[in-house]
Amino acid sequence: MTEINGTEMEKCTALEPCATTFHAPEKPKGGTSSCEFSDPAFYNNKSQHIHRWAPWIAGFSKDFVRDSIGRFIPCGGVVLDPFAGVGTTLVESMLTGNDSFGFEINPYAHFVSETKTRAVFVDVEAFGKEIRRFEAFFASCAASDYEAKSTVPEGFRSKVEFYSPNVLKKVLALHDFICQIEQGDVTAMFRLAFSSTMVRYSNYSYEPSLGTRKGSGKEDISDFDVGGLTVMKLKECLEDIEWAQKEMGGKPIPRSEVIHDSFFNYASHIEEGSIDLIVTSPPYLNNYHYNRNTRPQMYWLGFVSSPAEMKGLEESNFGTYWQTARDKDRVDLAFKPECSDIEERLDEIRSMNPEKGTYGGKGWANYAASYFNDCYRLSQGIGHSLRSGSTALVVIGNSIVQGVHVPTDAYFAQIADLVGLETVRIHVPRETRVGNSIKDSGLRSKSKEKKNLYEAIVEVRKK
Ligand SMILES: C[S@@+](CC[C@H](N)C(=O)[O-])C[C@H]1O[C@@H](n2cnc3c(N)ncnc32)[C@H](O)[C@@H]1O
Repeated sequence: MTEINGTEMEKCTALEPCATTFHAPEKPKGGTSSCEFSDPAFYNNKSQHIHRWAPWIAGFSKDFVRDSIGRFIPCGGVVLDPFAGVGTTLVESMLTGNDSFGFEINPYAHFVSETKTRAVFVDVEAFGKEIRRFEAFFASCAASDYEAKSTVPEGFRSKVEFYSPNVLKKVLALHDFICQIEQGDVTAMFRLAFSSTMVRYSNYSYEPSLGTRKGSGKEDISDFDVGGLTVMKLKECLEDIEWAQKEMGGKPIPRSEVIHDSFFNYASHIEEGSIDLIVTSPPYLNNYHYNRNTRPQMYWLGFVSSPAEMKGLEESNFGTYWQTARDKDRVDLAFKPECSDIEERLDEIRSMNPEKGTYGGKGWANYAASYFNDCYRLSQGIGHSLRSGSTALVVIGNSIVQGVHVPTDAYFAQIADLVGLETVRIHVPRETRVGNSIKDSGLRSKSKEKKNLYEAIVEVRKK
């Protein structure tokens, strides 16, 4: 991708002529970021204690969270992440001695977040003993042609066979072992080790959406050392637990609560004005399907057992999904935008590819309008939760929908302004981003605007 040049970024800020407190985005220089924040991309987490336990395509980096905590609440405070994902904000809050709350509606992501924040409580001796017992069990299964009692989860269907027969036998044996572990935190560690690696030996892969291996030109996996990979993962987790317990040694353990609910129910869980810092990243306007992409983990861990349960989750996702919004009657903004061209931009999307019906601009405009309605509700939730004078950092990327550029960061800032928050600045830590699944959803753009995808941090403050 080519760089976003200064002119384009200035154009984004020119959309906020009324926002007197608004500053121009900090522009990255050359190929690297000149932004005062660390790059929020998840990539570096893959080698970091605890954060490396479960990959999450849309996660952000622990360094970004740590920098933010150090900068905005150097003397400590209560941190909130309305979209906790796999818990990056909560883990860093805990390790830096700060109480934290997170909301997460995806049961798998919620499970991972909660398991990570409980690392400091895991009985290392009991966990180590169970790993050794598992190694012996798996060796004996291989030697004795073990007949598993577990079965494939009810309701779990896939287009092609999810596991080849040899692999499935081993997965079911692993499942049998997990079912008989008695100690809660140790069971959770085994469930995490299984669920975070289970796609690796399936006939599916993340590209970054979940699809068949064959569909992306890879061979199916006919056999795999399931036990070996699980043990490797378990040992990595054990090492990190020992590390975390040493880090926290003697210090009081802060409160970490991951609420399994939509953030839009914030008023039932968060006391008004009780939060000192929000660090978060809502789903982007790119229709990345968190629920479909975690179907295997959700069924195999027993969080869902039917497509109807999956559907319920889709409807409460931030912005819903294109699949949910496209066939609705026209969705309009539920708030009155001021000094903004959001409505014009939605009209432009709506006018694209009319011959495609709801698969063209009409359906995508419904999705984008639902998305901005939820940005409004998020801003209200931020306003409710923050203490006066406190900051929220919202990591959000721009989008290209049906070929139309949507400066989601600038629009979010305008919306935040409507509910009385002050936009301090939009930072751009990274000028290129990959993985937008709808970038090419339009065949042609009327505007012929050439835009790249970038990552932004919208810094807002409660007055
Ligand atoms: C961009 S990811 C956040 C990743 C996180 N920063 C991390 O490092 O793991 C957005 C998350 O929001 C969750 N989500 C979507 N709608 C939600 C809602 N209404 N309430 C709470 N969480 C929601 C998704 O399941 C997803 O995990």
